[in-house]
Amino acid sequence: MDIEMIYQNKSLKNYNTFGIDVSTKYFVEAKSVEDIKSALEFARENQLQLILFSGGSNMLLTHDFDGLVLKLNLKGIEVVLEEEDFVEVKVKSGENWHEFVQWTLQNDFGGLENLSLIPGNAGTAPIQNIGAYGVEVKDSMTELSALEISTGNIREFTNAECKFGYRDSVFKNEFKNQFIITDVSFQLTKRNHQLRTEYGAIQAELDKLNIQNPTIQDISRAVINIRQSKLPDPKEIGNSGSFFKNPVISKSEFEEIQKKHPEISAYPSGNEVKLAAGWLIEKAGWKGKRFGDAGVHEKQALVLVNYGNATGQEIYDLSQRIVDDVYEKFGINLEREVNIL
Ligand code: EPU
Repeated sequence: MDIEMIYQNKSLKNYNTFGIDVSTKYFVEAKSVEDIKSALEFARENQLQLILFSGGSNMLLTHDFDGLVLKLNLKGIEVVLEEEDFVEVKVKSGENWHEFVQWTLQNDFGGLENLSLIPGNAGTAPIQNIGAYGVEVKDSMTELSALEISTGNIREFTNAECKFGYRDSVFKNEFKNQFIITDVSFQLTKRNHQLRTEYGAIQAELDKLNIQNPTIQDISRAVINIRQSKLPDPKEIGNSGSFFKNPVISKSEFEEIQKKHPEISAYPSGNEVKLAAGWLIEKAGWKGKRFGDAGVHEKQALVLVNYGNATGQEIYDLSQRIVDDVYEKFGINLEREVNIL
């Protein structure tokens, strides 16, 4: 690797959507698989800890790094297969997720419209199986390619091999920190689009827009409107979307809680019940709370925010106080969705 491409003592403030100002000893941006391999070699030769960055939208940085931050920036979108009803589209990992979704909609390819405006990049979408408004990445992803860090070999993973779950995949479990996703493929519809409007807020928004027979573009517009109305824009207020996962509990546990809190917000999830963590946090009294520059968003309690100069540790401490308080009040253990580094 050309040594000039390696920056030293660089601030990471502009590389994480929380806007946390920590620094890294070494920083390099990879635009190709070859760049990734060179960076891995540099880290090995210098015995540096490797930290992977993509869109920076799902991480909370709590300290400076004395290793190598490798920012993945592989770009490109390509139609790899076209049939009468379907296309298969391959997107490189460094493409911004929302811009990719907009590209699919401009081409009238259906399947990703409900996932409009989710922050982050295409390559990290499968790691936590991003989802919103009744749709998840796993519903249309066919396969992905990933570089194995220990060998430099590229391996293909089918949808089944990713072992997707709610905000979960093999890349958060047995293969955690072992692979770098380089591209992801989706099967999208060219016609007979399967519209998913059953998630309450979407239908209500379409009614508000006075749309009776929505197109996939209309659904995207509705999702964008809903998200903009209650989720803060990271360009204005630092945040990482939902900070916690919605806890999934057994039906019997749910019935116990429901006796005490009949108005609790929850949805069936297979044989279990998914509780709205935002509801629990709001009910516990945290919505809109602010401590210095660290706070709980005023319109969606699941989102923690950095009003300017909060440190990662301050946001982490706030999250821990919420975890403890929700446990004390409801006996529910909230799990963080955001990666803590
Ligand atoms: N709620 C409250 N108070 C709050 C927030 C929510 O009472 O402050 C209640 C709402 O009234 C509603 C329920 O909680 O009854 C669910 O709220 P919402 O539809 O906003 O969704 P969510 O469960 O809070 C999840 C995802 C979001 C995704 C939305 C829409 C998780 C952790 N979060 O949030 O994903 O956009 O559903 O599908 O699953 C993300 O992961 O970063 C994210 C934003």
